[in-house]
Amino acid sequence: MILSGVNMLGEELQATTVSRDYFSGIYNAVSNMVLVLSLKGEIEDSNSAVLELLGYQKEKLKGQSIDILVNGENGSFFGSAKRRLGKEGASARWETQLVATDNKKIPVSCSFSRIVDKNDKLEGYLVVAEDITERKETEKLIVRTIVETQDNEQKRVANDLHDSLGQELSTVKLLLTAINIDGQSSDGKYVEAFETCKNLLDKSIENIRAICFNLMPASLEKGGIEAALEELVHKQGQHDLIGFTLKVPDKIPSLDKSLEIAIYRVTQEFISNSIKHAKASLISLHLFLDQGFVQFDIEDNGIGFEVAGKEHHGGRGLSTMSSRVKAFNGCFNLSSTVGKGTKLSIRFQIKREDGET
Ligand SMILES: Nc1ncnc2c1ncn2[C@@H]1O[C@H](COP(=O)(O)OP(=O)(O)OP(=O)(O)O)[C@@H](O)[C@H]1O
Ligand SMILES: [Mg+2]
Repeated sequence: MILSGVNMLGEELQATTVSRDYFSGIYNAVSNMVLVLSLKGEIEDSNSAVLELLGYQKEKLKGQSIDILVNGENGSFFGSAKRRLGKEGASARWETQLVATDNKKIPVSCSFSRIVDKNDKLEGYLVVAEDITERKETEKLIVRTIVETQDNEQKRVANDLHDSLGQELSTVKLLLTAINIDGQSSDGKYVEAFETCKNLLDKSIENIRAICFNLMPASLEKGGIEAALEELVHKQGQHDLIGFTLKVPDKIPSLDKSLEIAIYRVTQEFISNSIKHAKASLISLHLFLDQGFVQFDIEDNGIGFEVAGKEHHGGRGLSTMSSRVKAFNGCFNLSSTVGKGTKLSIRFQIKREDGET
């Protein structure tokens, strides 16, 4: 009797061990990172993928807060994960970044769920994180291709407008001026009409130049970003709506044309927002080099706003700015204080002569 009891226990133990080994094999073989957390958010266990992708040793992670692995959450990852779970039920999924021991940031699609025992008592939490670096790179490439196609199209329209309609209007103006001189000598009644036509033509030529400039300034095509920013600030400053200060270094390494266009478009949108929404009287632009990076800070002294939520739920301007910058692997940092103003910092790594970053 006792013997059969011991045998049964042995079999059960073996079954448990077999299923644990079986489970452990799967747990360590999956390519997704899997972490088991305690009720306090401390790491109790992590699979091989965590150790391989993030470069940690298992013992070093054990007992640490999950927060040390996560980058860019507002406040604590564990706190916000539990809040998400509260809203979404049994498990929550969102995108974030994990940080490896060499400080490399890995974009992940992460799911967070409760671990409960057979009586539904909460025992801990499970984090499963899928490395989505490749997908993110493809997304960036798509955004880059879209914006470059748009930029090329705008360049084409600007050149066509300038070379066809712009030239034709200028020729008509020349001819009119000639006729006007004759008209004045032969028949004075046409003089007024001629003058009106000439004025209208002047306005049309000016408008076409402005449209071409906004579509793709020649200074950006021919010169670099410094020349284009100087021209933009000069032109905007002429309207007397707003004052500008611009600081650019004497010489910056040549940047990719498409990156220069991205910086320029972001500047246009920022200025447009400062004029439309901020009631700002001054915009300061500062382009500088910093340890292999080019950084551009632009700020207004307007009414400011709550940034949280606006980036994705405002108009299209803020989200387009952010995706343009991210498409070039840049950092995008928008901050604003109500009553004080808004500041945007964007930063890009400069390519070395040999093409390496
Ligand atoms: N510099 C700023 N100062 C104050 N509020 C701003 C500023 N920039 C943006 N905002 C606020 O953020 C919102 C979203 O800006 P966003 O550029 O995305 O959209 P929009 O300017 O309203 O429209 P769109 O750019 O699509 O024409 C604005 O409606 C405004 O409330
Ligand atoms: Mg806008």
